[in-house]
Amino acid sequence: MPKDHFDTLAIHAGQPPDTKTGAVMTPIYQTATYAQEAVGKTKGYEYARTGNPTRSALQDCIAALEGAAHGLAFASGMATTDTVIRTFEPGDHILVGGDVYGGTFRLFDKEYRRYGLEFSYVDVSDLAAVKAALTAKTRMFWLETPTNPHLKIADIPAISKLLKAHASHPLLAVDSTFATPYLQQPLALGADLVMHSATKYLGGHSDAVVGLVAVNDKPLYERLSFLQNAAGAVPGPLDCFLILRGIKTLHLRMERHGANAAAVAEFLAKHPRVSAVYYPFHNSHPQQELARRQMRNGGGMVSLVMKGGAEEARKVVEGTRIFALAESLGGVESLIEVPAAMTHLSTAGSPLEVDPGLIRLSVGVEHVEDLIADLDAALRN
Ligand SMILES: Cc1ncc(COP(=O)(O)O)c(C=O)c1O
Repeated sequence: MPKDHFDTLAIHAGQPPDTKTGAVMTPIYQTATYAQEAVGKTKGYEYARTGNPTRSALQDCIAALEGAAHGLAFASGMATTDTVIRTFEPGDHILVGGDVYGGTFRLFDKEYRRYGLEFSYVDVSDLAAVKAALTAKTRMFWLETPTNPHLKIADIPAISKLLKAHASHPLLAVDSTFATPYLQQPLALGADLVMHSATKYLGGHSDAVVGLVAVNDKPLYERLSFLQNAAGAVPGPLDCFLILRGIKTLHLRMERHGANAAAVAEFLAKHPRVSAVYYPFHNSHPQQELARRQMRNGGGMVSLVMKGGAEEARKVVEGTRIFALAESLGGVESLIEVPAAMTHLSTAGSPLEVDPGLIRLSVGVEHVEDLIADLDAALRN
């Protein structure tokens, strides 16, 4: 069979018409249990924590989009990360990208350190520092690329090579939430595991909270699959349906997110009240060449630093009309926030602390002229 392009997979992967009714859209199997013909004789499903056909469709879909052998869905991005971390033992060391979602840092620092796991943080854009941070106990390097909120880029092939050459053979796990499988394919670049907060671009409409993971390694998949059932942080079928529906337009949305964000970054870079702009495909980005090699476009996330610091940043985020002041990202609508006081509050006082004058934008798919006019007006306040 010919291999379908991404756009075709986004619409069809894991979702053949329903065999019983012909329904073209995957039904929402809103059931907690399944009738058995005889004891242990099932149609493949016995209890909905263990399995659900709507969830299976989403799991097959993310596996296809990431070019992976296996996919799994969880109740949220954090439930996904939590499940991955449960596969390790007390005493194991996990290296973490030094610029991760505040909730990820909170889970590692406030919860899993209590269970004897060790975490240390490193700049993902500094290969020498990554090499120096690996120890005999390092079992995994967990990173985001682009990072949140500084939009640094991790060189996935180079880091993968470095980890494979290290004596403890740590896994490379990539939280690819900002990039989505449309912009970047971490497994093809050498990662062992790719994770998404599907709440963001995959769902795309800010109406469901779901997490996804894709892997090739069968024993790792089996361990995660065991934990999915044993710990039970599973998404409901309606949420799986919403993510499947969102994914059908992922390729279209990401093209517009990327075009809008590039134009917004260019506008902000020239603004006299802005001291720095972070956008992977902008000329001012020190890793622009790597970003262009690794990603199809620069994505929808833009960060900027106000010359006037925290006070000015607050005025701007409270002064927009179209950009809504809100946490989260990746929906069709534009959002604006101050990470130091919102999404990354848990990093206060840690080395991961974010400049309080930094503003993060999730640039939506509205008309770009309206978005720039909105920011322009807010920057005049
Ligand atoms: C990069 C990244 N990873 C993980 C998460 C956590 O995902 P969720 O909110 O679906 O639990 C977020 C949430 O903001 C995120 O931005």
